[in-house]
Amino acid sequence: MPALTAIRGFRDILPKEADLWREVEEKARQVLDRFDFSELRPPIMERTELFQRTIGAATDIVEKEMYTMEDRGGDLITLRPEATAGMVRALIEHNLHEGGRATKVFCLGPMFRYERPQKGRLRQFHQLDVEIFSDPGPHADAEIIVLLRDFLAELGLTNLSIVLNSLGCPVCRPVYRENLVAFLEKRKGKLCPDCQRRLGLNPLRILDCKSEACQAEVKGAPTFSKFWCPECQAHFGVVKSSLSKLGLAHELDERLVRGLDYYTRTTFEVRSGDLGSQSAVAGGGRYDGLCRELGGPDLPAIGFAAGLERIILLLRAQKPKAPKGPDYYAAVLAPEAMESAFVLVQALRARGLRVAVDWAPGSLKNRLKRADKAAAAKVIMIGPNELASGQATVRDLLTKEQVSLPIDKPEVF
Ligand code: HAM
Repeated sequence: MPALTAIRGFRDILPKEADLWREVEEKARQVLDRFDFSELRPPIMERTELFQRTIGAATDIVEKEMYTMEDRGGDLITLRPEATAGMVRALIEHNLHEGGRATKVFCLGPMFRYERPQKGRLRQFHQLDVEIFSDPGPHADAEIIVLLRDFLAELGLTNLSIVLNSLGCPVCRPVYRENLVAFLEKRKGKLCPDCQRRLGLNPLRILDCKSEACQAEVKGAPTFSKFWCPECQAHFGVVKSSLSKLGLAHELDERLVRGLDYYTRTTFEVRSGDLGSQSAVAGGGRYDGLCRELGGPDLPAIGFAAGLERIILLLRAQKPKAPKGPDYYAAVLAPEAMESAFVLVQALRARGLRVAVDWAPGSLKNRLKRADKAAAAKVIMIGPNELASGQATVRDLLTKEQVSLPIDKPEVF
């Protein structure tokens, strides 16, 4: 019988990669601490209706990409395709917005979308999701973009660009939409079948359709910036000037409409020049109407999500790093040395050191090979001679220096 493999688009994160994952997650927590965020961990499954009502029934995610199933009680439930919907649901359910100040929360974890797998695109992928609730002002937008930039820059990523747009508000978006639809109606026959359908449902998405035919047709389309109301214009102006004050380069992309329906005003993406077609490392924006639409209070909100697989791909290409090995590898060279080695190893671990060991005794040559393979910094050798003298031989694998240290004094190691 052939051995089973993982599901297409679902990946194992192997031990040799896990160090880098941890580095990225730890950096995220460090930066988020500095910006005064707290962790909120919503469940991985939610009612299907939650995603339909937030992401939008006419989006690719809801129409084609969700892992939806009926549970044994007959309820329709879905593996979360993104985290924002669950974060908003949890905020409302637990009244996390009460207390008179902005609620700043993040979550880290797997998301699920039935997309065609390719480089940088999986069916189970991981996001760092960051959200600010109750802060309507443009400085919250700028702050969250600075946070994202700091996180990526401190990881050492380069060749990134920040792209911004504003999708307006309930005052100016309908006017723009009407003008856009009027323009596209005249070209309907030339649009791809998907966009012909989107024209009635979700016309803004046509602006970022990847099909060449649609791209050619939207070239002369009216641009949103001409339709922003004075409030949206002023809000976006402050976002841009705040970023400029901190020296953050950014560009306007009026085609940046994002694939989720809940956005209002500022939207943004961070793109990499090194990722090929799946170039978005992170994306987000403001979604001021969503809490109310979900039956909650009328709270403004802004957030983003960064794709951890894409960040890891970039880091691996930029700085291939040797995995960090243990501080010590304990080489037990004779059966009678096992007892002393066992006690010493646990004492070193109790001091916080990382110690690798093979309990079966082996030859010195074989054990040194194992230590090298484990990328250990030092080897502790305990054989008959060491037992007799009470002194373990400790070799630094980098400098090859060797010293003797008392087996019963773990504190001197
Ligand atoms: P999104 O643009 O759909 O936004 O996803 C954010 C990021 O997740 C993308 O930029 C990408 O790095 C990563 N990503 C998305 N799909 C995949 C995939 N199939 N494989 C690998 N990585 C992927 C959202 O999810 C919004 N919830 C962001 C947000 C938060 N807006 C406001 N708050």
